[in-house]
Amino acid sequence: MPMIQFRSRPGILDLGWGHPRPELLPVEAWAAASAAASREFGWQQLTYGDARGPAPLLDWLTAHLGDSTPEQLFVTGGASHGLALVASLLAGPGDVILVDSPSYHLAFPIFTDTGATVLRAPADADGVDPAALAEMLDGPRVRLLYLVPTFANPTGRSLPPDRRRALVELARRTGLTIVEDDTYRELCYDGQAPPSLWRLSGGEGVVRVGTFAKTVAPGLRLGWINADPALITRLATLGYVHSGGGVNHSVATTMYCFGASGAYQRHLDAVRAEYRRQRDALVSAVREFLPVEAPGGGWFLWAALPPGVSATHLLARAERHGTSFLPGPSFYVDGAGGDDRIRLCFSQLPPADLAEAAARLGTVLVSPR
Ligand SMILES: Cc1ncc(COP(=O)(O)O)c(C=O)c1O
Repeated sequence: MPMIQFRSRPGILDLGWGHPRPELLPVEAWAAASAAASREFGWQQLTYGDARGPAPLLDWLTAHLGDSTPEQLFVTGGASHGLALVASLLAGPGDVILVDSPSYHLAFPIFTDTGATVLRAPADADGVDPAALAEMLDGPRVRLLYLVPTFANPTGRSLPPDRRRALVELARRTGLTIVEDDTYRELCYDGQAPPSLWRLSGGEGVVRVGTFAKTVAPGLRLGWINADPALITRLATLGYVHSGGGVNHSVATTMYCFGASGAYQRHLDAVRAEYRRQRDALVSAVREFLPVEAPGGGWFLWAALPPGVSATHLLARAERHGTSFLPGPSFYVDGAGGDDRIRLCFSQLPPADLAEAAARLGTVLVSPR
């Protein structure tokens, strides 16, 4: 049986998977934090944890985020878990959950698991269109709007400030809840990330999910939810939390030591520099044959194909030439649209391999077979 989710395919330099580069995972620094947590917390690291997460981590995270109180925090097993929890509390059969298009495709089944209907929110090249969305809210029971507004997966783009403000205002006015997936906020390469919808809203009408999967390691299965204290109380009194205590308590206490010791900031600075180099390597190699925007953060390029080239058809040919990517239609909840786009991920390979992967893709685009 395999041990990990990613399976490398011999001969393929894969730009499809959004996974970290293995050499950038902080194996030794995490081991040191784990030993420090054992020393500092002893048996308390190994018993049931407090429902919302261990107080030291909540306090560190509150100071680190700078835009929420400990009462607005709930520790989760990562962003996916946060999305599943929020969606199952706020939507169900008969409800509608709207998603950006394109958007993070693996969130779609998390939402359909609730029994709700998942539909496209009206969007243009800048992202979800607040005026068109307002009209949709007159119709069926739209409960949630899911967005990755900062360094999005798959586009790498960020929602413009006026749209952020308009969507927050719309949520406040209508009772719609925006679920803001802030997974890539801290992986910014050119200055500051834009203010989150959570921050702009003052906590009203927006629930934010965050994760340490991209900044530290996905295997931690550790993240958080920011929400108003009433929703946090509902999360903290869920049956399985009452029975099993706070989520992933032992890793959460280690994360506290990793953060409070300064190891988190050192690691973040180091991986930011590496991912910036990787972004630059892939952008400049792809620009040899396709125009592509350099994202200010995150892990993805969203490349437009030459007229008449289908992303879906291109994939099989690319794999014959030793590279891979995800075709655009994967990121549309109804599968309609995006066949003129491909998502290229620069997180997993070092710069030289990214350049080689891009060169192989370039060869496919000019070769007739
Ligand atoms: C936008 C987005 N949200 C959530 C996730 C999953 O996060 P986690 O590993 O914390 O569940 C990913 C991972 O690719 C992602 O791109």
